[in-house]
Amino acid sequence: MSDAVSDEKTAVAADTIPGQRDMDPAEPLMRVRDLKKHFPVKGGFPIKRTIGAVQAVDGVSFDVFPGEALGLVGESGCGKSTTGRLLTRLMEPTQGTISYRGKDISRSTRRQLSPIRSEIQMIFQDPYASLNPRQTVGTIISSPMEINGINPPGGREARVRELLETVGLNPEHYNRFPHEFSGGQRQRIGVARALALKPKLIVADEPVSALDVSIQAQVVNLLQEVQREMGIAFVFIAHDLAVVRHFSQRVAVMYLGKIVEIADRTSLYTGPRHPYTHALMSAVPDADIDAEKKERIRLEGDVPSPISPPSGCRFRTRCWKAQDKCAQEEPPLIQLSGNTEGHLTACHFPEDPTIEARAEDIVLDPALAALEGEDD
Ligand SMILES: Nc1ncnc2c1ncn2[C@@H]1O[C@H](COP(=O)(O)OP(=O)(O)OP(=O)(O)O)[C@@H](O)[C@H]1O
Ligand code: SF4
Ligand SMILES: [Mg+2]
Repeated sequence: MSDAVSDEKTAVAADTIPGQRDMDPAEPLMRVRDLKKHFPVKGGFPIKRTIGAVQAVDGVSFDVFPGEALGLVGESGCGKSTTGRLLTRLMEPTQGTISYRGKDISRSTRRQLSPIRSEIQMIFQDPYASLNPRQTVGTIISSPMEINGINPPGGREARVRELLETVGLNPEHYNRFPHEFSGGQRQRIGVARALALKPKLIVADEPVSALDVSIQAQVVNLLQEVQREMGIAFVFIAHDLAVVRHFSQRVAVMYLGKIVEIADRTSLYTGPRHPYTHALMSAVPDADIDAEKKERIRLEGDVPSPISPPSGCRFRTRCWKAQDKCAQEEPPLIQLSGNTEGHLTACHFPEDPTIEARAEDIVLDPALAALEGEDD
């Protein structure tokens, strides 16, 4: 192991308790640049060869700041879970970098990652599948402490009981097994396990999608409490925009392996500039916007294959504003004029920032748009 890594291990060990005292809130906790994950596609007979690649994540860049909740949204198959797995380094990227607290961890080995393993945790969609049915809740929640050799003051059992209380479970249920709990309670066990090592970043991949609607709000509220009170940064992956809006201060929208728009929650929900974001937002019920002014955009067609995505802008095959330029040039993710700092959009012909102007501007029928054939 290099000196740099062992130095970091010492530094991390001295700072396993949160409070994030050593972190400047203006400095990103995690910095992701041009991140790619391509899965090879094999074919041919009798000898199988690589004949292509699923471009699951194809050049995403964003920062996660200490203590913030960043939502990651997009349709099924757009690369959200793959991005989450890359951030937690459950997978190695094909290309690009992930820096955590200033150190490039993109290609770190398992051993090199061990000092920061405790700081980056993941919560999965299916609480049942992610808990070992043969272990008691006490064993499940204390195992990360055991693996990492952490002995909290008062002992591991006391810490587990404290964690059970934190997530709203009865500390007396320490010796019970996962099947003795409901779905919502199991997800609380998953949250307690993720909190056991006092992480600085939690990647939560669809943490409430498998739960009953009535239970979803309780678990989201618990995660929000944890995020705010313990100052833990969250990357919250979901396809339910209402949940993301409730939970996240910033939101990144993914389409076919790329981030097409990223902004603070208010800017994104009230002034989306990318047509895809606009279409997604138009389907979210909104108490703040007059229902008559809120037009609903129905996205036509299927998401293209990530094996051979469209040239230029990947959304162009479903975009009602698409023009020749959209097929020829990939739009860069940039801050458009009039947008707030950090509101970035990847579109050649962005939506107007105001609701009134957008209502007049929209051409729902792509054929009509093609007939008009004029630049915006
Ligand atoms: N291990 C893998 N091997 C090959 N292709 C994969 C693998 N994992 C994911 N993919 C593909 O990568 C793309 C992105 O998948 P991913 O699971 O990241 O999407 P997602 O946005 O999380 O979708 P969902 O909302 O359905 O969970 C999909 O086309 C998927 O089929
Ligand atoms: S770049 Fe063109 S195709 Fe892509 S979202 Fe913008 S207008 Fe639509
Ligand atoms: Mg997923």
